Amino acid sequence: MSQTDGLEGVVAASTRLSRVDGEAGTLILAGYAVENLAPHATFEEVARLFVHADLRADRRAIPAATVALLREAVGRRALPMDALLMATPTLRVDQPVDVIAAFPTIVGTYWRLLNGHAPVPVREDLSHAAHYLHQLTGEDPTPGHVRALETYLNTVCDHGLNASTFTARVIASTQSDVIAAVTGALAALKGPLHGGAPGPALDMVFEIGTPDRAEAVIRAKLDAGERLMGFGHRVYRVRDPRADVLAAAAERLYSNGADRRVYDLARSVERTALRLLHAHKPERRLDTNVEFYTALLLHGLGLPTALFTPTFAVGRVVGWCAHYLEQRRDGRLIRPQSEYIGPVGLQYVA
Ligand code: SDX
Repeated sequence: MSQTDGLEGVVAASTRLSRVDGEAGTLILAGYAVENLAPHATFEEVARLFVHADLRADRRAIPAATVALLREAVGRRALPMDALLMATPTLRVDQPVDVIAAFPTIVGTYWRLLNGHAPVPVREDLSHAAHYLHQLTGEDPTPGHVRALETYLNTVCDHGLNASTFTARVIASTQSDVIAAVTGALAALKGPLHGGAPGPALDMVFEIGTPDRAEAVIRAKLDAGERLMGFGHRVYRVRDPRADVLAAAAERLYSNGADRRVYDLARSVERTALRLLHAHKPERRLDTNVEFYTALLLHGLGLPTALFTPTFAVGRVVGWCAHYLEQRRDGRLIRPQSEYIGPVGLQYVA
């Protein structure tokens, strides 16, 4: 495989936003270690760290045109991630931070309409994370649920030049607008190799059902050439540091009411998966990535798998907006070379 396959190992930008150290297994977010920032900061503080603007509650409401588009998407039974992708271009924003403010309202409104309920009126007295849970359920979320979601959103807010963020930077480099950059990033995040992994990761845990079945089910998947969702990473050659942050948040969630049996099963599945992956690919460190515990934590919050990737976007949109601003401020048009390996010298014959 050539060095540039998937641009592996290629440094394509300089950034002050985050540093992913794949060998050490560390993640720095705007100068803070993820394990120091994510479990303690508010999402509003993290957003301000990245986009240097206030995440305002009075910017949460979405235009009538966006609601109309979402109603149209219900008619097509669109997946929530597709509805978010379709609705984002209808937003009209003064500045990137307003896109961050609107995302929970879009996802919540669509989820309510898709399930035959009226959209929940937007409240400005709730924090951003609480607002998102309120938009989904119409109920006031518990402080424990808000803290768990906030830890998640902070943990996934930025992560170097992952595929969706790189997409946003390429679009920003053409001097296009932030809505276009975020829309492109959403399209990239949707893929199962990127943001689409948490749902299938949880499906595997439930398919296994009991710890004694883990060995046989996982071995069959690997023998069939399947990839285990929630494991492996292009950059991390050791355990993704975000897995531990989310595992700790999930454990608090499950020990306080949610089904602790699911948490213990997931930990057992992870141990078996790591052992079998090491035997399957001894030459390649395949460790737990962020998505495995994302699945467990969001399930513990009562979110269905269809909302896992849109919820990832509710957090990652901070990074997309920050990279958009950084690219517009510091960057040039992103235009790599390609190596032509096709035929030459052909002659046209009518
Ligand atoms: C995210 O880039 C980021 O930062 C992304 C992210 C972020 O915050 O934005 O961290 C979020 O996307 C995390 C990853 C979520 N995706 C998954 O969990 C899907 C499962 N993981 C794999 O598909 C894979 O590990 C990737 C896509 C994440 C990374 O793959 P690479 O670096 O392209 O590695 P590769 O495909 O070249 O794999 C090398 C070998 C292959 O075997 P061979 O084809 O050489 O025989 O390892 C195997 C792969 O088949 N392999 C796996 C595996 N991951 C790699 N085998 C089984 N299960 C896996 N999970």
